[in-house]
Amino acid sequence: MYGIVNKAIEELVTETFGEEKWNAVKLKSGVDIDFFISTEPYDDDITYKLAIAVSQEMSLPLSDVLIAFGEWWILKTGKEKYGYLMESGGNNFKEFITNLPLFHNRVMMIYPKLTPPEFKVTDIQDASLHLHYFSKRVGLQEFVRGLIQGLGKFYGCEVEINLLASRDENADHEVFEIKWK
Ligand code: HEM
Repeated sequence: MYGIVNKAIEELVTETFGEEKWNAVKLKSGVDIDFFISTEPYDDDITYKLAIAVSQEMSLPLSDVLIAFGEWWILKTGKEKYGYLMESGGNNFKEFITNLPLFHNRVMMIYPKLTPPEFKVTDIQDASLHLHYFSKRVGLQEFVRGLIQGLGKFYGCEVEINLLASRDENADHEVFEIKWK
């Protein structure tokens, strides 16, 4: 994944727990890279190693780390570094999620070598929908949950998320039922 992702993990840890904790996480991860360059692609393995090391160092379940990172990605990385992109995604929560299938097309103008996730939206009602998540990568479904929670906070609405299907249970992709008010 692009360095921006690893950098965001670094910022989350440094700003929440301090620089010493980040140094401990890096040591534990075995990742021997001093500085991540946002616009350079790195092996996915590096991102996974960092996330696992955060969970070990903080004694937190990996799922909690991924959820926290998803929220951070929206509320810090997205809002503060790519505010114009976030705003172009929609005027409210429902619009943003409904437009999500096209979102990474715009991201690809900044990061052309992106391997983006794929989203589909079905069962659209006034205050709920189904979000389908397809990815070449495994283990990121709780990251998606954190992203959706972050979007709820971004738009100031209460969000409820239920996982209806998962590759962990032999489906071929994840399906989230999302309700908001
Ligand atoms: C300004 C906002 C955003 C930017 C700049 C951005 C950029 C990126 C980048 C650079 C990656 C790494 C992929 C790679 O390097 O190959 C990524 C992955 C991902 N993004 Fe976004 N993204 C944004 C918003 C979102 C939003 C709003 C969602 C969903 C709610 C989302 C869902 C994901 C997921 C799930 C992945 C993991 C890749 C996978 O599942 O295969 N992103 N994004």
